[in-house]
Amino acid sequence: MSSGELPGEVRVLTDPIAVAAEAAGWIARLCRDVERFRIAVTGGNTPHFLYEALASSTFRTSIDWQHWHVYWGDERAVPPDDGQSNYRLVVDTLLSKVPVPSEHVHRMEAERPDLQAVAADYARLLEEECGRPPRLDVVLLGLGSDGHTASLFPGTAALSVADTWATPSRATYPPYERLTLTLPALNAAASVAFVVTGAPKADALRGVIDGTVPAARVRPDNGELVWFLDAAAARSIG
Ligand code: 6PG
Repeated sequence: MSSGELPGEVRVLTDPIAVAAEAAGWIARLCRDVERFRIAVTGGNTPHFLYEALASSTFRTSIDWQHWHVYWGDERAVPPDDGQSNYRLVVDTLLSKVPVPSEHVHRMEAERPDLQAVAADYARLLEEECGRPPRLDVVLLGLGSDGHTASLFPGTAALSVADTWATPSRATYPPYERLTLTLPALNAAASVAFVVTGAPKADALRGVIDGTVPAARVRPDNGELVWFLDAAAARSIG
């Protein structure tokens, strides 16, 4: 049993909808009055409530979407219109509903055959747009039940990549081929938020506290780390 605490600030809300509303409000405050708001988004099943909250009337009308620049934390090696594409998830739930200029949307082209080249292109893009190291304003992350985050899976080589900002990676379940930001890229961000809901994430959260899973290695060098949890997930660490 873990006795420590999650690193960073922890916000516990009643349920996934409340988590989404809280995280959306946090993002809305961070992007207010920012000329170039650079955010990396995440995939998986959890964040769609958050994207839907951002697209709801409360935030759709109050956020200045023209200032948003959107990047991806990771992508599966599937075409952008595939049901498993993280790009498609964010388009369907958010970007098709709010006026982010299309030239500000930078998807990972993970359907291309040479993932090494795609990763190199993406690393270059991040440097050009966010500096060296790339300082994203916000990185959104999920937590897998095995403690992976973005596409940084336990025991895989991508976890050790320290000389670039994006790399091909391999998942432990399909789709296996992935592209992911590296730990140095995640840790260079100004704000990093994990959005984690549901009791099945219990072991993974304990793994973060114990420092035994990939997500435990997300510790912004010079930025904030916030955990948005629902009560079911938080009970496991209470
Ligand atoms: C992906 C992700 C991944 C995700 C976690 C949690 O492409 O799968 O970006 O890191 O955030 O697997 O996923 P769930 O929200 O589905 O549990």
